[in-house]
Amino acid sequence: MQQDKRFGEREVQQLIPRFVGFSVAAVLFGLTSSASSAAGGGFTAAQAANGASTYSADCSQCHGAQLEGGAGPALSGASFGKSIQASYTTAGLLYDFVAKQMPANNPGSLTQQQYADVVAFVLQNNGFTPGATALTAQNAGAVNLAAAPVAAAPAPATVAAAPAPATTIAEAPAANEEIVRAAPPVQHVFGPLPNNADVSITDAMLAGAATDTGNWLMGGRTYANDRYSPLTQITSDNVASLVPVAVAQTGITASFEATPVVVNGVMYVSTPVVNSKMKVLALNAATGARIWETTYNLTPFKICCGPVNRGVAVAYGNVYFLTLDNHLVSLDAKDGAGHTLVYMLAHADRAAATASWAGFRSDPDWISLKATTEKNGALTTKTVSMFLTPTDFSPLK
Ligand code: HEC
Repeated sequence: MQQDKRFGEREVQQLIPRFVGFSVAAVLFGLTSSASSAAGGGFTAAQAANGASTYSADCSQCHGAQLEGGAGPALSGASFGKSIQASYTTAGLLYDFVAKQMPANNPGSLTQQQYADVVAFVLQNNGFTPGATALTAQNAGAVNLAAAPVAAAPAPATVAAAPAPATTIAEAPAANEEIVRAAPPVQHVFGPLPNNADVSITDAMLAGAATDTGNWLMGGRTYANDRYSPLTQITSDNVASLVPVAVAQTGITASFEATPVVVNGVMYVSTPVVNSKMKVLALNAATGARIWETTYNLTPFKICCGPVNRGVAVAYGNVYFLTLDNHLVSLDAKDGAGHTLVYMLAHADRAAATASWAGFRSDPDWISLKATTEKNGALTTKTVSMFLTPTDFSPLK
């Protein structure tokens, strides 16, 4: 990468991990304490028991076997207690939300009885006690949840964990360890790039994106992020005659919010997260055929609002994407190989970058932290440092 003295420099640290992620295991397992106050939930014990099976089959893959959260939010503990108080002051409001929106990958797919039972199960795991009357879609509105015992949920009933794909998490986290090793990404190559396409987007190509009518080089198409296509072939007269020419199946069912990037006939797209996995795919933009697909395995994490991914950036022969467990990862644009964590640092100039990096390496706190986290083996195979020149559009200029 060239450097220009007039501009500040961004140093890109690329750590090539074996497979690693940082997690908050202690927090995940720290919220269950014994029930203090018991509140009536307007459901029966038999119902909650039936609800446990529905939960295990249809909810646990996103909300966790212990309701601790995963791709979906926790359904027990303090944060869900707050949700109950803010949003679900009656069992009817909780029932309506679940029956209309869940399971997120197939809303409305269960029977009324199953929804009522699974709501009973969730309530039981949040400190509500069963009684003589069964919860139904009709009577749920009269069941007051406002007295929810926040953060005092009983230890969740044991739920059979949904069958976890073998590669989800390589090792169960020990309760007192902060490092969780996720399985490494799985790469599949289905074929070569069409016409030996050159997919190494350069700074010059990005700067000229506005006049490039053959490619869509970044999410918003141009640095102005206008998302507008200047092409004129499709008009209000002929739009009715458009027909689908290809359907690309990703195997991931959740909401897609990513705008694909297209370079020389290759389309790059990222998927949302389901079952702690997301994919980055390269497709033949003309036929929809998959060229390669890399599945990234996430470490345990919590999110507020949906497992979406907002897309990739393609440049310098790499595909970059942000993950929900908070990593910036790059893969080889040709075949999806590699697994490189990217850190971007801003420095006044190259001398400042060198001094900062030297200081970081010799920092005793860092050295001791590194020794602790690597006590079960090295986390990375190599570290690469490169320099980028900020573009005219960069706030670093
Ligand atoms: C494919 C993943 C997925 C599955 C399966 C799923 N959920 Fe969800 N659930 C989510 C996501 C993501 C959200 C957050 C949605 C949002 O904020 O818009 C959510 C939100 C919720 C909430 C609201 C939580 C709050 O704090 O407000 C409840 C309750 C819930 N789900 C219950 C269930 C139940 C019960 C099932 C099984 C019948 C289920 N979910 C199945 C992903 C899933």
